[in-house]
Amino acid sequence: MKKNKEIVNVCIFGAGRAGMIHAANFAGRIPGARLYAVSDPDEEAARKACKELGIEKYYTDYGKAVEDGNIDASVVAAPTAFHREISVASSLAGKHVLCEKPMALNEEECQEMISASEKGGGILQIGFMRRFDKSFLHAKSVAESGEIGDIVLVKSLTRGPSTPREWMYDVDKSNGPLAEVNSHDIDTLRWFTGSEFDTIYATGSNYRCRQVKDRFPGFYDNVIMAATFKNGMQGLIDGALSVGYGYDARTEILGTSGLILVGQKEHLSVETVTLKDGVKTPFVQSWRNLFSEAYLSEDTCFIKTILESGKPAVTGFDGKMAVRAVRAGNLSIREKRVVSLT
Ligand SMILES: NC(=O)c1ccc[n+]([C@@H]2O[C@H](COP(=O)([O-])OP(=O)(O)OC[C@H]3O[C@@H](n4cnc5c(N)ncnc54)[C@H](O)[C@@H]3O)[C@@H](O)[C@H]2O)c1
Repeated sequence: MKKNKEIVNVCIFGAGRAGMIHAANFAGRIPGARLYAVSDPDEEAARKACKELGIEKYYTDYGKAVEDGNIDASVVAAPTAFHREISVASSLAGKHVLCEKPMALNEEECQEMISASEKGGGILQIGFMRRFDKSFLHAKSVAESGEIGDIVLVKSLTRGPSTPREWMYDVDKSNGPLAEVNSHDIDTLRWFTGSEFDTIYATGSNYRCRQVKDRFPGFYDNVIMAATFKNGMQGLIDGALSVGYGYDARTEILGTSGLILVGQKEHLSVETVTLKDGVKTPFVQSWRNLFSEAYLSEDTCFIKTILESGKPAVTGFDGKMAVRAVRAGNLSIREKRVVSLT
C-alpha cells in the first residue's frame, strides 16, 4: 500500500451529474480531503465546474491530469466507456481510484482495472453508494440479525424519470439500462444474499422511447430480471427509464419469518388534501436528493480508507461481478433464454 499524506488531493474526472455531486463533497465536506482539480474534455464544463466549486485547476486531457503528481486520488465519473482507461492510467500512476458504477463495459476491462490497482498500490473503490445509505445499512443489519428468519428472496427496483443519454441507446456498446440503471439493484441482490448469481432470465422492451425504435431495435426502457443464487436464494429486479413520475428505488427482503421493506417514495413529509384530488404527496424526483447523504458517506469512506491504509468497502471484485450479471441479463434478453453463470 502507498504511503499516504495527511491531506488527499482529489481530481474529479467528468464534471457531469455524478461528478459534481462528488466534487461538492470533496470541496469542503470531508475531513482529510481537498478538491484539487477537475478533468473534462468539454472545456466549458470544466471551467463552469471550477467556478462553482471555487477551485482553479482544470484539465481537458485526462492523460495530463493523471501525470500531475499533486493528485493523490481520482474520482472517475466520466461516461462508462471511459472508466477503464482513466482508472487504469490513474492506478498505474500510483493514485487511489473511486470509480462510478457500472465499473466498466465487460469483465476483461474490470480485471484490467483490478490488476492496475494492485500494481500501482492504491485502493480501488466502486461507486455503489446504496451500501452507504442509512436505510439500506439498517436493513442489512436487521437481515443479519435473523429477525426475518432465513432470506428467501431479494427484490429490488429502480425506475428513473429522465430520458437516456444518446450513448445509452446502443445496448451492444453501453450495456443499456441494466448497466446504467440497475447496476445498483444487481449489487443490492449480491450484498443481501451474500452470494453470486447462478442463473439469470431477463426480458426487456421499449415502451416509451419509441422515437429510437428503428435506429436502436435492441434498446429496452423496461426490464425485468429473475435470478437464482448459488446459495439457493432468489432474486428479482425491475428497471425502467423515462417513467416521468419520479425516481423510484425500492428493495424488499423476504425471509422465512418476515419481510424488510427499504425505500422512500415521498420527497417531503407533506400531504395535501383537497376534495377534488383527495390526498396528494410529492414523489421523490431525483437520485441526487434521495442518496445525497449516501454519496457523502461513500466519499468519506474512500478518504478514510486511504488515510488509514484500509481495504475498500466496495471492491473491484464487486464491480466486476455486477458487470458479469449485467452482460448475462443482456444476453438473456437477446437470446430469450436462461443464462447460467456457473
Ligand atoms: N452512482 C449513481 O447513482 C450514478 C448516477 C449517475 C451517473 N452515474 C455514473 O456516472 C458516470 C457519468 O454519468 P453522468 O450521468 O454524470 O454523465 P454526464 O453526461 O452528466 O457527465 C459526464 C461528463 O464526463 C465528461 N467526459 C466525457 N469524456 C470524458 C473523459 N474522457 N474524461 C473526463 N471527463 C469526460 C463529459 O464531458 C461530461 O461532462 C456514468 O458511468 C454513470 O453510470 C452513477
